[in-house]
Amino acid sequence: MSTSINMIDVIRTKRDGGTLSDAQVRWFIDAYTSGGVADEQASALLMAVFFRGMAPGELATWTAAMIASGERLDLSKVGRPTVDKHSTGGVGDKISLPLVPLVAACGAAVPQLSGRGLGHTGGTLDKLESIAGFRVALANDEVVDQLRTLGAVICAAGDGLAPADRKLYALRDVTATVESIPLIASSIMSKKIAEGTESLVLDVKFGTGAFMADEVSARQLAETMVGIGAAHGVRTVALLTAMDVPLGRTAGNGIEVAETLDVLRGGGPSDVVELTLALAREMVALAGLDADPAVALADGSALATWRAMIGAQGGDPDAPLPEASHVQVVRAPSSGYVTQLDARGVGVAAWRLGAGRARKEDPVSPSAGVVWHATVGERVEEGQPFLELRTDDPSRVPAALEALDGAWRIGPEPVERGPLVIDRIS
Ligand code: URA
Repeated sequence: MSTSINMIDVIRTKRDGGTLSDAQVRWFIDAYTSGGVADEQASALLMAVFFRGMAPGELATWTAAMIASGERLDLSKVGRPTVDKHSTGGVGDKISLPLVPLVAACGAAVPQLSGRGLGHTGGTLDKLESIAGFRVALANDEVVDQLRTLGAVICAAGDGLAPADRKLYALRDVTATVESIPLIASSIMSKKIAEGTESLVLDVKFGTGAFMADEVSARQLAETMVGIGAAHGVRTVALLTAMDVPLGRTAGNGIEVAETLDVLRGGGPSDVVELTLALAREMVALAGLDADPAVALADGSALATWRAMIGAQGGDPDAPLPEASHVQVVRAPSSGYVTQLDARGVGVAAWRLGAGRARKEDPVSPSAGVVWHATVGERVEEGQPFLELRTDDPSRVPAALEALDGAWRIGPEPVERGPLVIDRIS
């Protein structure tokens, strides 16, 4: 640790809109991670970054220092091109589940090291844990072996990857500094780069159900993350996608796995299929492979890879998925067309039914969630079941219904749902 750098100068430089030197950035990340900088001083710096932002070079060094705070997975023995995907999170966003085996079936290795859900957006690991026996905690050599043999793994990111992010994220959470584009971008990219992937496709969502509410900030986040990827030699492409309407027909854990199986069997909701294929095509292209993901979906090879992946991680791909003991049905009050189905309302309802957690140590229910029988633009008839609220604890239903109050509308005129993929940034 350098003796010529002190934390008060670092805070003052950023507070006054200056650019931190590489040495200052490296010193701060290292000292904070190892307990050498107090939380109040780190908080002041994060708030200064929140207001002043970071220059591109400063952010590249900040991210590099976060990566260097832990281990970097060595995927050189995998024997296939490596490519991963990250989504900034949305409601009904189960896309990683069909996408990982699909891209693996096209010949790539997909090291999907994921996190758990927090708040109204679901977590990939929570969904997978609704499959009996499925193990998300894998040792690094198990990850590498599975990538070599199957090309597909979805597991928890180990504690060794970017430990600086864990400390900084916890501090941002309690200091109102989460919503800063350089801090979000470095947090996401440090974990993805430490994972060792050669290329990366980002699904950056905006809308009521997303982390970023508007397109302008989502675009800025996407451009920042693509820039960090390039600075670290990771080929990175971002798709900007709409998240005002929840994806598919289900938001929850086990019910999203069931929808994934529909997609892998060649059916499933058209928006889930469209986004899965759009992301898969980008991933296959970045991996330099000459394969058509639509073929791998149609010929059953993606489904076979899914079954092998679930089995390799201790799960039973044929085990029945958990069913909720209580189902509350909301019927269409009139005939017409769904003109609104708000992603945030649906996400909060699923969360309140037990599908999500408020604190990171909370358990989640594998069977809780919301099913919608029609989405924006589709016709419904009066009295037909429109929504299903599923839970094992009926006392949760009133709060879930409250979240859905005003979140959907049925009108006499058909409306067209807007495009899902808005732009591509590379
Ligand atoms: N997800 C992350 O991993 N980090 C952030 O800062 C925000 C979302």
